[in-house]
Order: sequence, then C-alpha cells, then structure tokens
Amino acid sequence: MQRNILVTSALPYANGPIHLGHLVEYIQTDIWVRFQKLRGNHCIYVCADDAHGTPIMLKARELGITPEELIERMGREHREDFAAFGIGFDNYYTTHSPENRELSELIYTRLREAGHIDSRTIKQAFDPEQGMFLPDRYIKGDCPRCGAAGQYGDSCEVCGATYTPTELKNAVSVVSGATPEERESLHYFFRLQDFETMLKDWARGGHVQQEVANKLEEWFTEGLREWDISRDAPYFGFQIPGTEDKYFYVWLDAPIGYMASFRNWCDRHGEDFDAWWKADSDTELYHFIGKDIVYFHALFWPAMLHGAGFRKPTRICAHGFMTVDGAKMSKSRGTFIMARTYLNHLDPEYLRYYMAAKLGSHVHDLDLNLDDFTQRVNADLVGKLVNIASRSSSFINKRFDGRLAAELPAPALYRDFVARGEQIAEAYENREFSRVIRDIMALADQANQYFDEEQPWVLAKDARTLPRVQAVCTQTLNLFRVLMVYLKPVVPKIAAEAEAFLNVDAQDWQAVQTPLLDHTINRFKPLATRVEREAVDAMVEESRETLAPKGDAPAADSPLADHPIADPVDVDTFGQIDLRVARIEDAAVVDGADKLLQLTLDLGGEKRNVFAGLRAAYAPEDLRGRLTVVVANLKPRKMRFGVSEGMVLAAGPGGDALYILEPDSGAMPGMRIR
Ligand code: MSP
Ligand code: ZN
Repeated sequence: MQRNILVTSALPYANGPIHLGHLVEYIQTDIWVRFQKLRGNHCIYVCADDAHGTPIMLKARELGITPEELIERMGREHREDFAAFGIGFDNYYTTHSPENRELSELIYTRLREAGHIDSRTIKQAFDPEQGMFLPDRYIKGDCPRCGAAGQYGDSCEVCGATYTPTELKNAVSVVSGATPEERESLHYFFRLQDFETMLKDWARGGHVQQEVANKLEEWFTEGLREWDISRDAPYFGFQIPGTEDKYFYVWLDAPIGYMASFRNWCDRHGEDFDAWWKADSDTELYHFIGKDIVYFHALFWPAMLHGAGFRKPTRICAHGFMTVDGAKMSKSRGTFIMARTYLNHLDPEYLRYYMAAKLGSHVHDLDLNLDDFTQRVNADLVGKLVNIASRSSSFINKRFDGRLAAELPAPALYRDFVARGEQIAEAYENREFSRVIRDIMALADQANQYFDEEQPWVLAKDARTLPRVQAVCTQTLNLFRVLMVYLKPVVPKIAAEAEAFLNVDAQDWQAVQTPLLDHTINRFKPLATRVEREAVDAMVEESRETLAPKGDAPAADSPLADHPIADPVDVDTFGQIDLRVARIEDAAVVDGADKLLQLTLDLGGEKRNVFAGLRAAYAPEDLRGRLTVVVANLKPRKMRFGVSEGMVLAAGPGGDALYILEPDSGAMPGMRIR
C-alpha cells in the first residue's frame, strides 16, 4: 500500500550560513525521504528559510540593507549549499510568504475564537535610542550575584545565576549601548495549559522517542504555562490581526512555515492541501528536528494545530548535536566548518556516507571524528564497495566487450542478497542508518570474498575457463548492483553514476528482484576516490579563525575580549569598501538623540549628511573643520532623524565614547584610502 508521507526538517535561520552541524539534520532527513521514495511511497519533503525575528532585522540593519534583501540573499546561499549536498527538497520556501501570513492569521484567529489567547500588559527592557524593546540576549551588564561583567540579560555564564534583565547592574543595550529603560507593553499569550490532557495523551501515544517522552513528562510535572506569542514594533514578521503595532513572535509562524511551504507546493502540483492537514487525515506527518527545539515541536506545535482544528504530527524525530573530534565545534580549532568550506575540499557524498554510518534513531550527540571519517570512507566506501565494481568490470570490459553472462553462477548467493533487503529496509524505516551501513558493508565483504575465492585473474589465463570469468564477474556486478540500490538513499550521486556505468535506468527498491543478465555495461569510471588527509587538514585550516592572537586568549581588559577579530576577507572584498578623507564642515546636536551628532561632510566637493554616535566624546565645536575618514559607498540608511549618507570611522572602548580617526597631514578631502 502506498503511504502518503509529508516530511520536514527544521527551518534554518536566514541570518547565517549552513554549517556541518545543520547538515546532520538535513542529510538525515534526506536519506529517510529518498528511502521512502525508492520504496514507492508518495513522500513529500518541504523546508524553508526561517526569515523573521529580531536577529534578522538587526543583521540587515548592520549590513545597511532591508530584511527582504538579506533573506533573499541568504535563501539563495542556503539553497545552493543544500543542493550541493544532494538534499532533495520537493519545496524550499521562506516563512516570509503570503501563504504563511494567511495560515498564521488563520491559526491565530481560530485559537483566539476558541478562547486560547489571553492578553495583558508586561514590563520589558526598552532601548530609548533605537526605540525598540530588547530581547534578553540584547542586554548585557554585570551579574547581580557574582559581579562578572558582560553577562546577558537572562543568566550569568560565570556563576550560573538566572535573573531578569532589570536586575542586571550597569545594563546596556547591545544594539546601541544605551541604558535600557523599563516600559510597559500589551502582549498576547497562547494558553498552552488548555491542552494539557491532549498533550499528555499525545506524548504517550508513540509520537516521540523515549528520551523525548521522558523530557515531556518532566515538563508536565513542572506545569504548562502560557506562551508569549507577540512582539512590539519594530519587528520583522507578520502583524497580528486586529492590532496596530504587534507582531507574531518568530516561533509562532516558523512551524506554520512547514504548512505554508507545503501549501505552496500543493498549489503548483494540484495536490489537495486539506486532505493532508484536516484533523482526521490518514496521511503521515514527520518532523525531523534537533534536540534544542523539542519544546516548540512537541508542546506548542501540536497544541496550536489541535486548537486550530488541524491534524497533529505522526512523529517528531529529534537528533543530537554534532561535535568534531569529540568537542563542540570551535572557530579557533577550525572545527566550526561551513558547508561551503567543506565543498571547497571534499566530496559531499563522503559526509553523507559518514553521517549515515553514525546515525541512529536516538537523540545522542554525534561525533565527526576526522581520522575516522577519512578511514571509513577509504576502507568501506572506496575499498570495499566501489572496489567490487572496479575489479569485476575490468574483466567484463576487456575480455567480453562489456557483455554480462546470460546466467548467474551462484543464484542462491544473489537471492540471499535480495532477501537481506527487507531487514535493511526495516532499519531505514526506523532511522537506524548505522545499522543499514553495517549490513550493507557485511554484504560487500561477502561479495569481495566470493570474488577472491573464484580467482578470476587465474581463470582468465586459460581459454577453457574464460567463460567462468564472465560468469563470476557477472555475479559480482549483480551483487554490486543490489548493494548500490540499498545505498542509494545515502549516496545518490555515486548511485546515479553506478547506474550509468551499469547502463540501467534509475533503479527502485524492487529492481533488484531481477538480476541483470545478457546485458552490455559501460566502461568503468572511478565512482569515488580516496579521501586525502591533506584535504581534510586544508578544510580545517580554512575554517580556523587565524587572525586572533595565537596561544592565549586575549586578556579580559583587551578590546579583543569583547570583539574578537572578524573572519578574514580577501583583498577584493575589502576593495569594495570605498574609504575617503572627509572634512567635517559642520556638526550639530540632534534633538531627541543624546548620543548622536549630525555631521555635514565635504568629500572634495561632494557634500554628505551623516549621523554619528560621537556626542559622548565631542561637542559640535570640537569637530568643525577637522579631517576624518568616511565609508563613502555605504548605502544611505534611513534613521529616525533623517537619512545618513555614509559612516564616519571611529573607535572606542565599548559603552558610549567613540573617537574619530584623523588622517595625517598631506591628506585632502576626497582622497581614496588604501
Ligand atoms: N529556525 C529554527 C527552527 C525553526 S523550525 C520551525 C532553528 N534554526 S537553526 O538554524 O538554528 O537550526 C536548524 C536546525 O539545525 C535545528 O533543528 C537545529 O537543532 C539543527 N542544528 C543546528 N546546529 C546543530 C549542530 N551543531 N548539530 C546538529 N544539529 C544542529 O532552530
Ligand atoms: Zn554571575
């Protein structure tokens, strides 16, 4: 019976690139989806960029572009990275879409009408300079318990204390450096506690792994509380219906983004969206996620769906985090590896293979051990599997014009390989991929052993035993073909090349029932080459943050401690920034902004209006007539007080004081700085 299965991976945030940790998830999901398709199920895999929220809004500001431009750019990069790793989404969309807006409004409205939304006023830290409320992560100060400096608004990394941002000493806004004020604002809450009974039944109904079920029981014991689903403007997201300046918190519309991406796919493929999402749908819904986002997917999400009259997930498949060489991914060790960096040095199929070899159905963390990676790919994938094809095809190609024999000399062995398929399929279905790889490699050993025992290289010396050579190699190539079908979900590109070499159409799981006989194959081309340890080392080297001083960490009072030197850029990238000498013709205070000065700059004839945060260190008259350095090709930025047409370079110790850079004598306004 054909199953209808909708599968998702968590939606990556649109403010950063894809790294190897992310890929644990996308590769795992993709393998499962490819397996389902290979078995003939109707399986649809959707994902999207998670495009909303404060970090994305601020990142866009920092880059001087609109959030729309930022998510467009990141979306393109993400798609390219995923495609390079063979992640075969049926649809990759964005949460900033009309479908998602419509579905988010619909779900919210249904929840509100059913009485599951409350509203009340709360107190929250507010950045008076930026005119925005500050999430806890955007406030820093001294720990109220141990006094450690530079701690976030919710907890102290030094002594472990937790507190509210208002308790923090000497608090500053990370966004502007201003001192946060406490302000009131009306917020909207989703009443999670209304769903306690339903969630308990659901959690105990086999929809989550045992480890996750245990965690959920802890949360039930602690008690379910209402969830703050609104944020104040300015916020990059969807406005809440019936409000002027309230937005859905990014985590409300993010999971709805799964539905929206699917809806977008349905509309383009004539599929009935409602049949998949109605409360009593007989389709299956699988969410693959990391262990850090279980609360959202196993509590909020089923409650939202249930409350709005939609179906709930069939299964949440949570996985652990990736470590590299036994430790957390680290920029200084070069183990925080971006997907792009990997691609500069290594074949993506190798990572897919290695991850499959390490992945099970549990929530444990998974280690990418770089020695083990090199060794396994070389010994198993290249040394065992591809080797079967290369050694047998050389006889078939050279001696028999690429022609396979009309019969198998060891049909029982072949049948045995086919029969083992059920066990392998079961392991795939249960996401026991390491088991899949073990079983396939055990069969590969058997195939090599058969070849070695038959000694075709000896038989080939005698014309009378030559037909036996053809038969033996036909046998091993058929065993190879079976194994390549089994491994196809893991290494789709190598499998496709194997199909081209065997001169067959795309194979499905059933194809192995009939052996390939009396058939001409193509010339063998190496399907995979060995991993060179040098390539792995070069990848790590490229990932290492080199500019930080070698050896000891910077002293706590060094500016490097707060702001480590940024990732290297090449000289061409630097060249895109046009720095010029400018004369400060005029400077004036800005009403309503106690940190800013408004500057009129002369760039050798061209005049610019620039707002700069210089007021703490200078009075306007200190600056008039002086030379400084300006980023001349920064896109104009609209600020609360007007448009800023450039940026003056200045340095400071953190906090408010900033000191301008002044060129030496000889420099003239308009001169290019190199
Ligand atoms: N945007 C949210 C998910 C919203 S889903 C409705 C998010 N994004 S993320 O970019 O931070 O992470 C995307 C997925 O990658 C998550 O499932 C996360 O657990 C996973 N991983 C991110 N880093 C990881 C590792 N180092 N190791 C394994 N998985 C990791 O969370
Ligand atoms: Zn502390």
